[in-house]
Amino acid sequence: MFAPDLFKGTRALVTGGRSGIGYAIAQRLLEHGARVLIASRKEEALLEAAGTLSAFGECHAQPCDIRDSAAIENLADTAAAKLGGLDLLVNNAGGQFPSYAEAISEKGWNAVVNNNLNGTFLMTQAMAKRFFIPSKSGVVVNIIADIFRGFPGMAHTGAARAGVENLSMSLAIEWARYNIRINNVAPGVIDSSGLGQYPPDFVDRARKAIPFGRFGSVDEVAWATLFLASPMAAFTTGETLYVDGGRRLSGDIMTFE
Ligand SMILES: NC(=O)c1ccc[n+]([C@@H]2O[C@H](COP(=O)([O-])OP(=O)(O)OC[C@H]3O[C@@H](n4cnc5c(N)ncnc54)[C@H](OP(=O)(O)O)[C@@H]3O)[C@@H](O)[C@H]2O)c1
Repeated sequence: MFAPDLFKGTRALVTGGRSGIGYAIAQRLLEHGARVLIASRKEEALLEAAGTLSAFGECHAQPCDIRDSAAIENLADTAAAKLGGLDLLVNNAGGQFPSYAEAISEKGWNAVVNNNLNGTFLMTQAMAKRFFIPSKSGVVVNIIADIFRGFPGMAHTGAARAGVENLSMSLAIEWARYNIRINNVAPGVIDSSGLGQYPPDFVDRARKAIPFGRFGSVDEVAWATLFLASPMAAFTTGETLYVDGGRRLSGDIMTFE
């Protein structure tokens, strides 16, 4: 889709790059010339994914829990050692579970907010301090969610992703002086590995709520991510690009019942 050498010379970190959307982003970055490091918790699956991705270019892997700042520092060490630095961070790692808000326990709430908001902040701050701010150059793309009209059925992740979106606006301004851009991609319902955890009737209702009548593909999220990560978006920062087949604008918002 893009020029084959669009990301030649780019050193990229994709969190959650072992599966689904993150894997597609890593693959497309590799195909367009980037050198890529993927990171997530499950070491065996991560190494297997890096092995498969290596067919498309130079791909490294390092286990890391994005909630663990010591592990994030180790990941930065690996980026320095294997890639010689970092130019692009894709914060894709995350997860949640469907639940009525009144049924979310304190532990469940904290787990989702910790993963999706705190983990994203810790990762972004660490990579900015280590690489982007010193080099006065860097790009961040956060994968959030379709939170335009709230996120009924998953209020915890809606709140966390809205936090990431607002964080991006703050950082876009604070870090403009370091020539760092930060944007978000907000996927609608995407036919990816993460979808399997939801009840079939929930998934069916979600599909019917999309004006295109279909789910998005992981590649459609990847292309939007590559656009925002590329020099084509050099004057775009603090923005959110929705990849949702128009769902946020149309009909009833997805309900959990
Ligand atoms: N699919 C959709 O419809 C959709 C829609 C909107 C937003 N999203 C978001 O897009 C992202 C990718 O989703 P997906 O559909 O591709 O699902 P997925 O396959 O479950 O991907 C989630 C990835 O994040 C990693 N991860 C989760 N928690 C982590 C942590 N604490 N530290 C490090 N890695 C962690 C997982 O790997 P490990 O298990 O190895 O840690 C996994 O590779 C997620 O943030 C998801 O919430 C998805």
